[in-house]
Parts: sequence; structure tokens; C-alpha cells
Amino acid sequence: MKQWINQANEVIVRCKELARFTEEPGRITRTFLSPPMRGVHKLLEQWFEKAGMVPRVDAAGNLRGFRAGAGPGSRVLYLGSHIDTVLNAGAFDGVLGVVLALALVEDLGGRPLPFSIEVLAFSEEEGVRFGVPFIGSRASVGTLDRELLAREDAQGKTVADAIRDFGLDPGGLPHAILPPRPLAYLEFHIEQGPVLERLGVPLGIVDSIIGQSRRELIFRGQANHAGTTPMEMRRDALAGAAEWVARVEREACATPDLRATVGQFEVRPGASNVVPESVHASLDVRHALDEIRRRSVKSLRSYAEQIVERRGLELVWKQRLDQPATPLDPLLTSALEGAVRRAGLPVHHMVSGAGHDAMILAPHCPSAMLFLRSPGGISHQPDETVLPEDVAAALACGSEFLKEAEALYA
Ligand code: GLV
Ligand code: MN
Ligand code: MN
Repeated sequence: MKQWINQANEVIVRCKELARFTEEPGRITRTFLSPPMRGVHKLLEQWFEKAGMVPRVDAAGNLRGFRAGAGPGSRVLYLGSHIDTVLNAGAFDGVLGVVLALALVEDLGGRPLPFSIEVLAFSEEEGVRFGVPFIGSRASVGTLDRELLAREDAQGKTVADAIRDFGLDPGGLPHAILPPRPLAYLEFHIEQGPVLERLGVPLGIVDSIIGQSRRELIFRGQANHAGTTPMEMRRDALAGAAEWVARVEREACATPDLRATVGQFEVRPGASNVVPESVHASLDVRHALDEIRRRSVKSLRSYAEQIVERRGLELVWKQRLDQPATPLDPLLTSALEGAVRRAGLPVHHMVSGAGHDAMILAPHCPSAMLFLRSPGGISHQPDETVLPEDVAAALACGSEFLKEAEALYA
């Protein structure tokens, strides 16, 4: 692994450089096509060009770097991940997969391969700005539909507006779709959990990605004076919403391997002397088995309905995402396992609890994923990091994977 350590350190430096482009000084926040995304594109474009790739930004704001294969019509191997972030993020979720792919292309130098490579830096995966994730990868498989294009952010801008504001044309979206017969998609990503660290293993081969449901809720009651309104005469939206959140946690704890999270919770009008009128909340439910996830979402909705009924509140329940659990490609995954072995590293297979662009690509293109250990199991916050020796291990595997693909398609 020693021969990769310099490149690994460079990958980490580059992730940190890209983290400087943020909407919030002092924190890393970069949502779909927000102004700092331009800086990320510019820097990545320079690096892509230097590595011999032709960069372009497609109509969904995905930055792509193309390296032509030897021979006309050579099929394309896609390598990539996303370059948006959550609010107050770390520097590695998504970005690492793009920068690591770039390092692998750099390592090839001018050596021709029998297939083309395109590095995909997806514009959006986290779902922060529009409440719906995977905008970039959906565009790449042609499922960025009218309904999603018309979705509004908190400022009332639609996805299509955001595309136009960035200087792109939503009319060009058909050109964002990957051409037919893609060779494969390979994504490197931090694990974002504690499993690999606990096992003392640097890399994990992802067999499947668990399904997720997201919902937006409004509990609506009546604002009134906090001093004069007797307790039994209140329609307190927050008291109802809080009761429901406690039920969400109880349901998840009582269902093996279920994850349920209320990550957004906004109380209005939000004054200490006013009975809360409304609460806007989010729900995120995940399980490896789609049936259990669906059943849980149904019962969490029914709890919410019972609570609002008893308390004289109203409920708005909006569906935002139902993404089924996604198996990755067994053949490609076993090729990845071969690469891990040849790099002299231990093999560990696992399931991903986080969503990834590979979920969207997998039904359209053989897809595989390699996880890098997350120190402390920490992600989606500023302490998220990665070890240089693990990045070196991932680069060694990536290089072995490319050699195997070269032999296969020669
Ligand atoms: C993406 O990071 C997710 O929410 O799983
Ligand atoms: Mn993430
Ligand atoms: Mn990610």
C-alpha cells in the first residue's frame, strides 16, 4: 500500500480544498447548484483536464470528466459520487469518491484502455434543498421527471429554476442521460458508520443498499395566549408532534434493524408565550426489507392520525421518497472482491445503511461500491474523516480493478 500513500494524501488535501466552497462561512454546506458549486466545478475541471479528461457540466449540473478509450465506440466505465453536502457537513461524504476516481485516472497517465472512463461528480444526492435526494443521478438515468423539476425549495424556486439560475438549460436534460450499454458504475464512499472500524478492516464491499422512505409532516393546531388558555382548551401542535416523535423512536427500537429519524422539526410561531400553532417535521425510515419499512411507515402514519384526532389537531402527510432496497451487481461485486484480494487486503462484505447514487444507477447499469472505514463511525457532521492508509488501500483496489477490467475487455 506504501506506493499509494502520496496519492492518498493528495486525495485528502483535495477533498479539504473543495470543502472551502460553502454557503455558510465556517461550516461546510453546499446544496444543489448553490453559488459555491461553481468553485467546486472550476477546480475539478482544472484537475480533470490535467488528468487528460474532457470536462463538461450536463443540464442537471453534474460535472463529468471523459477519458476516451482506445477504439471507436468503446463502452464507458463510470466512476463517481456526489459533490453536494448536508448542512454543516464533513469534507468527505461524496467528494471523496469523485477525487479518488480522479486519482485513479491520473495514475493511468497516457496509457490507453480498451474502454472509456467517465468520472461523474453528481450535483445532488443529499436531498437538502428540495427534500428529495438523487437529483443528479436521477438525471443520468432519465428519471428526473416533471414532478421533481417542479418541486420548490424554501424560497419558492423550483428545481428547473435552480438549473436555469446556474446558467444551464433544463431542455438539455435528455443529453444528461448515460448512453446505452454502459460498462459499469463503481462508487467509492466512506462507510459513514462504525462497522469497519470495529472489525479493524479498512475497506468494505457493499452487496446491497437498504431502502428508505422520507415524508414531510405538518401538525396544525391553534396559536393562543400561553397565560390565559387553560390546558384542556388548547390545540397545541408541538405537544402532539412531540408525542408522535416519542412513538417513532419506540417503534424503531422495537423493530429489529429499523432506523427511523425525525431530523427536522420547526415550531411556529416559535415564541415562549404563544401556544404552538404548527410543527413542520420530517421522517426518514430505513430497513433492508422493503416490506418492514413500508409497514412501519404505515403504522407511524396511523399513530400520527390517532394523536391529531385525540388532540383536535390537523395533519398534513406528504410523501417525498420511497426508494426500494437495491442489490448491487453480483458479478461486478465479485470482480471488486478479486481486486481487494489482489491488493492483499481482507475481504468484508456489508450492507449500506446510507443511500448512495449507486442505488439509482444500479437498475440501469451494473454497479458496485467500495466503502472506506469511517474513523469513530462519524459522518454527516464536521468531524467526519478518513485515514490516509485507507485511501491508499482504496486506490490500490481501484487500480487492481482497472487492470482486471483491462484484461477482460482487451
Ligand atoms: C445520504 O447520505 C443518506 O441520507 O443516506
Ligand atoms: Mn450523505
Ligand atoms: Mn454520500
